[in-house]
Amino acid sequence: MILVTGGAGFIGANFVLDWLAGADEGVVNLDKLTYAGNLDTLRGIAADPRHVFVEGDIGDRKLVADLLAQYRPRAIVNLAAESHVDRSIDSPEEFIQTNIVGTFRLLEAVRAYWSGLDADDKAAFRFLHVSTDEVYGDLDKNAPAFSETNRYEPNSPYSASKAASDHLVRSYHHTYGLPVLTTNCSNNYGPYHFPEKLIPLVIHNALAGKQLPIYGDGQQIRDWLYVKDHCSAIRRVLEAGRVGETYNVGGWNEKSNLEVVHTLCAILDELKPRGDGATYASQITFVKDRPGHDRRYAIDAGKLANELDWKPAETFDTGIRKTVQWYLDHQEWVGNVTSGAYQHWVGKQYGS
Ligand code: NAD
Ligand code: TYD
Repeated sequence: MILVTGGAGFIGANFVLDWLAGADEGVVNLDKLTYAGNLDTLRGIAADPRHVFVEGDIGDRKLVADLLAQYRPRAIVNLAAESHVDRSIDSPEEFIQTNIVGTFRLLEAVRAYWSGLDADDKAAFRFLHVSTDEVYGDLDKNAPAFSETNRYEPNSPYSASKAASDHLVRSYHHTYGLPVLTTNCSNNYGPYHFPEKLIPLVIHNALAGKQLPIYGDGQQIRDWLYVKDHCSAIRRVLEAGRVGETYNVGGWNEKSNLEVVHTLCAILDELKPRGDGATYASQITFVKDRPGHDRRYAIDAGKLANELDWKPAETFDTGIRKTVQWYLDHQEWVGNVTSGAYQHWVGKQYGS
């Protein structure tokens, strides 16, 4: 089996669903079920004997040690994290707890388990840590995209906590020989994305007749990757990545936020026109900028492409269209995750 952490979140759930669709190997899925974790997403595999869901914290050493002893996984894929920049600005504490302390405790439990394996299992074992391009910080407009050798310059509590966890993972390889791999990916989008992040928030607000909030001038640039392509990259790195290495993952799709939002509005205008005939773009509203907002991220995924022969299956055009269609087809899922605590966050972040 493999142990996946954070497998009820956006990328984790897509990873678990895709894994079980493509392989016989089982998954132990450890997730704390924070506001971002949602069992509804995993409903289709609830009765699948290859999937064992465990509600719990990566920082709970006893629980993790027990799971490792019981299921004896050959690999860990660590996706559990606090992941939203705006929440990290509002209340950073949880980011330190989960992303730094939690990852540290997980590493300690895994180190103890791995030390006790026989030589062959020890050599074959992998700890794959999923991280972000945001650890590299802000990129000038004309600067080359981030490569794996770029200096870490995190600018938000979120990216700083992810950077710290990347360093811990690296140190466990360097010091103890733990066979680790790290991936640093750009912004994901796709099915089961919680509507606090730009793309699902805009789709959700557009359909609800609400404002589409653009921070600052909307000219900030992100590289966008369809979530299933991120999952295929993780599988490929797990399968063939060189131990101790980091791999950047990206979609070669740099877009400004305003461009992304206009694209979403145009697709919605086509697939689900507004009753009054107006374009959804009329709902765009410029709001106060995010403090410390990074202007540009861009990923050079050449190492992953050249060394491991990985490439994304979707372009931005195909992926974004699939995503909008998915949200139109899954309004019940959206309704379930946007009740209760979600309303509280939206009220706090955007007012009214
Ligand atoms: P998410 O917020 O949607 O999901 C995170 C999941 O982790 C949730 O299910 C949550 O319940 C769980 N979790 C949180 N704290 C936990 C803890 N202490 N113990 C166990 N489970 C816990 O996040 P995501 O977007 O799916 O991101 C997954 C990983 O990928 C994160 O490490 C993130 O930094 C990284 N990443 C995300 C993106 C992106 O665009 N979303 C891009 C690059 C990298
Ligand atoms: P987000 O989806 O939160 O991802 P990240 O901050 O990790 O890149 O935001 C993507 C971009 O969209 C980022 O530049 C901030 C911007 N943004 C808005 O303009 N309005 C919003 O309501 C949100 C949530 C994000």
